[in-house]
Amino acid sequence: MNLAEKIYPEIQGLEIEKALTVLAYRFPDKVVFSTSFGLEDQVLTHMIFSNHLPVKVFTLETGRLFPETYYVWNRSIEMYGQQIQAFYPDTVSVEKMVSQKGPNSFYESVENRKECCAIRKIEPLKRALAGNEIWITGIRSEQSANRENMQSIEWDSQNQITKFHPLFDWTLEQVKAYIKENNIPYNPLHDKGFPSIGCAPCTRAVKEGEDFRAGRWWWEDQDKKECGLHTTNS
Ligand code: ADX
Ligand code: SF4
Repeated sequence: MNLAEKIYPEIQGLEIEKALTVLAYRFPDKVVFSTSFGLEDQVLTHMIFSNHLPVKVFTLETGRLFPETYYVWNRSIEMYGQQIQAFYPDTVSVEKMVSQKGPNSFYESVENRKECCAIRKIEPLKRALAGNEIWITGIRSEQSANRENMQSIEWDSQNQITKFHPLFDWTLEQVKAYIKENNIPYNPLHDKGFPSIGCAPCTRAVKEGEDFRAGRWWWEDQDKKECGLHTTNS
């Protein structure tokens, strides 16, 4: 039995804040939350920071984020007065890739795009997760067909860590209502047709009726549209 299976009965059915509290105290200094400052992440940031939960909050600063993302990042640390740890890509790897292939090599092939995601996201993620037991994310099941097949608590064999997606069953309407009710700062791009926000050159607005993730790596085939952060179990 892996850790995900072991803890599932302990937190199943609990309110999210209660579940986060149980995990934070059961695994001291070994619970991390990754934020990209999207709507869902802002809900969880609020729950963690306003309850002063001992959960380490980090972001993967790819170096290619939208100005609006830096704005909401800054607003969040001003508002809650707590630390968000930034993980940057390895300088030597980025310098080599950009010098050899230019700053926008990701548009040229899926291989180049995966290389960029590996350098700017996956390697820093490994450092962020190292030594921890529980990884909290803002994933919701309705975000994509891939994600519908995930579990709210699951074992990530690639990263050897238990993932917990507290908002897994929430609808977008619930997320928006919670943000409004609690006056939580959010990325202004969400009001401009961006339901899902990643790196600036790889995210565009979606049109009415388009899929939630249609604006991510929009030039690629539908079935390749994950950057590798969450592909293991999907
Ligand atoms: S992605 O794999 O396509 O980039 P998505 O943007 O849907 O992921 O975000 C899902 C969850 O992954 C977020 O709620 C957050 O927990 C994590 N995540 C995504 N991007 C980042 C990032 N740059 N820094 C930290 N966490 C991130
Ligand atoms: Fe690079 Fe785009 Fe991946 Fe960001 S989303 S790491 S810019 S390929």
